[in-house]
Amino acid sequence: MTIKFKEGLQPLKLPDERNELMTVNTIAVIGAGTMGRGIAYVSALGGYETVLEDVRREMLDQAMDWMKKAFDQGVERGKVSADDAKNALARVRTVGRVEEAADADLVIEAAPEDIELKIELFGMFDKFTRAETILATNTSSLSITEMAAITQRPELCVGMHFFNPVPKMKLLELVRALETSEQTLATCAEVGRRMGKEVVTVRESPGFITSRVNALIGNEAFTMLETGIASAEDIDKALKLGLNHPMGPFELGDLVGLDVRLSILEYLHRTLGEKYRPSPLLRQYVNAGRLGRKAGRGVYDYRKEKLEP
Ligand SMILES: NC(=O)c1ccc[n+]([C@@H]2O[C@H](COP(=O)([O-])OP(=O)(O)OC[C@H]3O[C@@H](n4cnc5c(N)ncnc54)[C@H](O)[C@@H]3O)[C@@H](O)[C@H]2O)c1
Repeated sequence: MTIKFKEGLQPLKLPDERNELMTVNTIAVIGAGTMGRGIAYVSALGGYETVLEDVRREMLDQAMDWMKKAFDQGVERGKVSADDAKNALARVRTVGRVEEAADADLVIEAAPEDIELKIELFGMFDKFTRAETILATNTSSLSITEMAAITQRPELCVGMHFFNPVPKMKLLELVRALETSEQTLATCAEVGRRMGKEVVTVRESPGFITSRVNALIGNEAFTMLETGIASAEDIDKALKLGLNHPMGPFELGDLVGLDVRLSILEYLHRTLGEKYRPSPLLRQYVNAGRLGRKAGRGVYDYRKEKLEP
């Protein structure tokens, strides 16, 4: 029987039943900041040809220095063999324009957390890559469906949410947008495993699993600090020793970047409601340029500390 659709109506796309994996040899990472350089590191170590792109040349230079140090440290600590480190580093190529990453099988976007920018980038990826290239974003909270909507391949768009610092953190949160296919999910899960990650899958919803819970904990800690309930050190200590968190909320916020934290909270506040309203103190720190470790100062002062990769 042929189903007739009213003029203008399209049949709903059924989920892709084929589960065979797509071939991924080359991964392009867009944005060479805190996350992009870490993703490039695990990608190269996982055996992928890796193209790292950033609009700022100095970020690419810093990222390559960071990667060299991280590989050296990995070798010193016995986590990576000297040969594997050397071969991985040789697999990384840096470029200054998205167009130069056109041969990638998988693009992982790690530019700043700004929906307009990410939609613009997805439009460019759609134009410059092959039609079968998977387009992933490392967004911590934004809608992948919105980014996918600008492309001609929403079934190939997906969230690959890595954690900071990428080489050390075990989790990859794989985010299924409205039209992400099973094949795209299965392929990205396999890529994640080759990068040494444990994978969880979550249906798209603001903040996914981790950012949603973590934003609330971090925001509550700022509210407690602001109202003088306890010092930052004691709040961190209480969560570490009393609740068995490996890091305190301020230590973690400083590591992630307080600006990143604030933009996640603003988005959750807009989409999920009042309980996510950012603490005024957090906003003040960001306005003062105290963005965390990357700025030398956040809740804590790192200016005398030698920062490790
Ligand atoms: N920082 C974290 O702990 C963390 C954790 C998980 C996910 N994320 C997400 O990862 C993404 C990146 O965060 P980050 O902390 O690495 O940010 P970052 O500010 O450290 O780095 C962003 C990089 O993107 C570059 N960039 C800006 N515009 C660009 C463009 N048009 N094309 C290419 N590169 C461009 C910048 O020059 C910069 O080097 C965000 O979506 C963030 O929410 C961050």
